[in-house]
Amino acid sequence: MNDATARADRHPGDTYGDILSRDTRPVPDYLREQPTPEIGVDPVAASRYFDPAFFEREARHVWPRVWQMACREDDLPSVGDYQIYEMLGRSLIVVRSAPDEIKALHNSCLHRGRKLVTLPGCKSEFRCPFHGLTWACDGSFKENPIGWDFPQWQGREMRLPEARVETWGGFVFVNLDGSAPPLLEVIGPLARDFERFDWSDRYRAVWVQKKVRANWKATAEAFMESHHSVTTHPQILGSLADVNSQYDLLNEFVSRQFSAGAVASPFLEPMEEQAILEHLLGQGGRRTGGGVAPKLEPGETARGKAAELSRATLKAQTGRDYDAAADAEMVDALLYNVFPNMSFWAGYPAALCYRWRPNGRDPETAIMDVQIYAPAPAGEPKPSNAPVHELGLDEPWSQAAELGALSTIFEQDMGNLPYVQEGLHASATGLVHFGRYSEMRIRQLHRLLDRFIAEGEGAEARP
Ligand code: FES
Ligand SMILES: [Fe+2]
Repeated sequence: MNDATARADRHPGDTYGDILSRDTRPVPDYLREQPTPEIGVDPVAASRYFDPAFFEREARHVWPRVWQMACREDDLPSVGDYQIYEMLGRSLIVVRSAPDEIKALHNSCLHRGRKLVTLPGCKSEFRCPFHGLTWACDGSFKENPIGWDFPQWQGREMRLPEARVETWGGFVFVNLDGSAPPLLEVIGPLARDFERFDWSDRYRAVWVQKKVRANWKATAEAFMESHHSVTTHPQILGSLADVNSQYDLLNEFVSRQFSAGAVASPFLEPMEEQAILEHLLGQGGRRTGGGVAPKLEPGETARGKAAELSRATLKAQTGRDYDAAADAEMVDALLYNVFPNMSFWAGYPAALCYRWRPNGRDPETAIMDVQIYAPAPAGEPKPSNAPVHELGLDEPWSQAAELGALSTIFEQDMGNLPYVQEGLHASATGLVHFGRYSEMRIRQLHRLLDRFIAEGEGAEARP
């Protein structure tokens, strides 16, 4: 080990930094940073994952105050196009109200409350199907068929209430809290690192949305560390450095983990470089292309060759050149999370994006979105975004053929989750423990939940 930042509480093998130091290209500074504040080892109560009272505290003090990813800007190509974003009974019409304006209107008629729309679409106005009160796409009031009977509305502004809308990377984010910090302040470190990858130029190649039998946090946390691979995904260890991943807290809201690809897990007996490359390509070759592994020349590494194959594969797809891209940016798992419920993979090839939400008002189940964003081919119109493919509680990921080899990985992750949820109920200690380093991103999630809840309850208690 030669990484100066190595510590006693880390795996004793190569660090992620050690692996970077042997790469074939210069390594950008952001991959070298290791902000790891000490946030302790306190456990959390298992009841946070099922107690309806805790769920209610989250619903009251967290979800209405955070930025949430609602859709893509190009899901709304024309004025009047709208999507519906729903969370914990709130419903927002995310609508392109003008060529350069997107609004998020509360989807509830100001008369007697009927939802104005129940399916996404395109409208020139929102006319309530109950009694016909009508609002324009920008939320301004247009018409009441029995206006004479509403003296209480005379002279009053009857606009539809709005949530905040901000955009980054082609995504539309909404926030119910008018005084929340701006989106770019919250996701600042992520936006900085992702400047290299231009997500606004990507399209949604895959969108699978599955209902899961576990609390939303348990579901999200299954994707916030790599060391479950040795037991949950043993088939990938031959070309994934799992237990020696790097974990960083970039600010209160953004964390990340880096797991080196085309490097074998330290859990395995040392492998020949050729065997590692063959293993990687045998896993489906999502980034490198599949097929027969080329013969490595003396001195070549599996990682260097995998990055070379990945650059060539992506160039064939997009027509762009990736010669300056770091090896890590072509082959590694570089996962960034934004509090409380989103994850974006960095790197040049097609990248994953996750979103987790409660399933209605049920603490015991969640909804997980898996999306893949691919760079658009150069010089061609951007392909259209894939529509959602919904999977129910008992439908396996293997029904989503568009995920390819990834469906096996997700199925393995989901195989744990119902039993995590049951085991949390069954806990004799009532406590959940997190590793000090490798699970600090999960601890950070709980710390920030606690802060939002404490602030919210403090504000309610003030006279
Ligand atoms: S509830 Fe909408 S018009 Fe009456
Ligand atoms: Fe996993």
